[in-house]
Amino acid sequence: MALAIIPQVNHSIVNEGKLFPYHANNIIYTYNNSLEEEGYKIITSKEGIVVEYAKERGKFYGQKTLEQLFLIYPHEIPEMTIHDYPQYPHRGFMIDSCRHFFSISEIKKQIEIMALVKMNVFHWHLSDDQGWRIEIKKYPKLTTQGSLRKQTRGDGKEVSGYYTQEQIKEIIEFCQERYIDVIPEIDMPGHFTAACSCYPELLCTKEKIDVAEHFGILPNIACVGRDFTYQFCCDVLDEVCDLFPSRYVHIGGDEALKLNWLTCPDCQAKMKSENLKTPEELETAFLNEIAKHIAKKGKKAICWNDGMSCETIDSKIIMQYWKDDKQHTSLAKSLVEKGYQTIISPFKHYYLDYNYGITPLKKTYNYQFPFHSQHILGVEAPIWTEYISSILRLEYLAYPRLFAVAEKGWSNRDDYDSFLARLDVFKNKLDSLGINYAPLSEVNPFFLKRWFLKLSFYFNAVDKNIINSFRLLHKYKNRK
Ligand code: ACM
Ligand code: ZN
Repeated sequence: MALAIIPQVNHSIVNEGKLFPYHANNIIYTYNNSLEEEGYKIITSKEGIVVEYAKERGKFYGQKTLEQLFLIYPHEIPEMTIHDYPQYPHRGFMIDSCRHFFSISEIKKQIEIMALVKMNVFHWHLSDDQGWRIEIKKYPKLTTQGSLRKQTRGDGKEVSGYYTQEQIKEIIEFCQERYIDVIPEIDMPGHFTAACSCYPELLCTKEKIDVAEHFGILPNIACVGRDFTYQFCCDVLDEVCDLFPSRYVHIGGDEALKLNWLTCPDCQAKMKSENLKTPEELETAFLNEIAKHIAKKGKKAICWNDGMSCETIDSKIIMQYWKDDKQHTSLAKSLVEKGYQTIISPFKHYYLDYNYGITPLKKTYNYQFPFHSQHILGVEAPIWTEYISSILRLEYLAYPRLFAVAEKGWSNRDDYDSFLARLDVFKNKLDSLGINYAPLSEVNPFFLKRWFLKLSFYFNAVDKNIINSFRLLHKYKNRK
């Protein structure tokens, strides 16, 4: 007899036998040191249910599979043996708390769902142009001023909020109980407007600016020719490293529009003194120096792949692959071949902020990696919140697509129909947690609806500021 629905497991399921009634609270847990760190065995028989594990986190994942099995088989369970462990060590979800702010309890709810599908990394995007969201004791203006945006795209409504270090500890503890690592991101040298609005000497022009009130790629990036910028970034990261127990710190590196560097005397002097030929080499030197600083604290830096365009980028920096056009993919592939560790987050498939017309569930589930290597650490789905102002909308967009990414991270199976059947089984569980997931009838829209959703996304997102971003990018790329 085959199992009607196989739970989210990776490796073997054997001895599928007769169904027998069970008691969900009659489970024996035993230690088996031959198992993998995150692995477990479940043996079900008429005598009872046994879970074997080597490490507590393996036991935890065994419990998660049992939860799924009990949802699938509420009364009788088949005799079987499951030996399971994940395909990849990094299975992440990134939430952008900057463009819109989410409370501690709203964040905890999402973490609960991550644990349900065996995800183990919560990447927390805590600084950006539109708001600084983490308390830094040495630079109090970051939160007294930098967390406050007067309005968004002319709507006249203030957006504010930040997490105190105590609240962050609460989230870290909540995650630790669920074997989830919290990786903080302090984005630099781009996406730095909120920091520059508090400390104008961080800007090449030293002008007084506001926290950004619109979106796009903005030119207010950090001046990396000035000692103060290094001092500031290292001080901030020192507090971040002390606060977060994770071995990893994300230092951004994405979408840094380096126009100001071309005319800034300090940036130009730094390029000259260090014999750096291009702004990209200057950016690389900056990211390497920051990575070296946090390495002294025992941490490894992660960086978005568009910030890793020069060969001189430190090989210990972990690349997060999001830009998936031909040129970036071939560059990423060559870095992976050289041994750079990588997290896979292609924006056309794994960015959960795009609506289901742009990225249907099936497109996310069926994504195939463009390269294969033992250096791939795993997968991560980011949700950016420029156009997501409520947790209800965030949940609608995140679920069920996050489950498709979780499945890729955990399992080597590629079985969309089984995946869909399991989603249906999760429905009651998600309802009991009060999650505003998208119904299955809306996650793979038909042709016309897809176009309608695509057009409505772009009509809403594209405004004169986005067009200006493209104009500035064009000016930078086509400079003499
Ligand atoms: C990114 O989407 N800017 C990493
Ligand atoms: Zn400068």
